[in-house]
Amino acid sequence: MLVESLSKIFVCATPGEGRCGAKGGGELLEAFKDEVERQEISSSTVLQNACTRRHDEGPVVFIFPEDVVYTRVQTEDVRGIVERHLTARAAAKPGSG
Ligand code: FES
Repeated sequence: MLVESLSKIFVCATPGEGRCGAKGGGELLEAFKDEVERQEISSSTVLQNACTRRHDEGPVVFIFPEDVVYTRVQTEDVRGIVERHLTARAAAKPGSG
């Protein structure tokens, strides 16, 4: 059974020259979805974000509600971000085993 997480990961994949989509945001979005499912967390945890005008540092990823922003995120960063923000919280949830 997939675990629902209280935290959400917002990945900017907005298309357009110089925007996060042109810097791998789409691949990153899919990589986050794959990683959360691999860790038995619902893929509804990962959402596509609209442009927040930070694409000079893109692709950007926001973690809600922790209010953490990651910039220049690469696919090799995905596992660590998921473990830091989602796996730890899921493990701390009462009754989650
Ligand atoms: S396109 Fe991602 S912040 Fe603007």
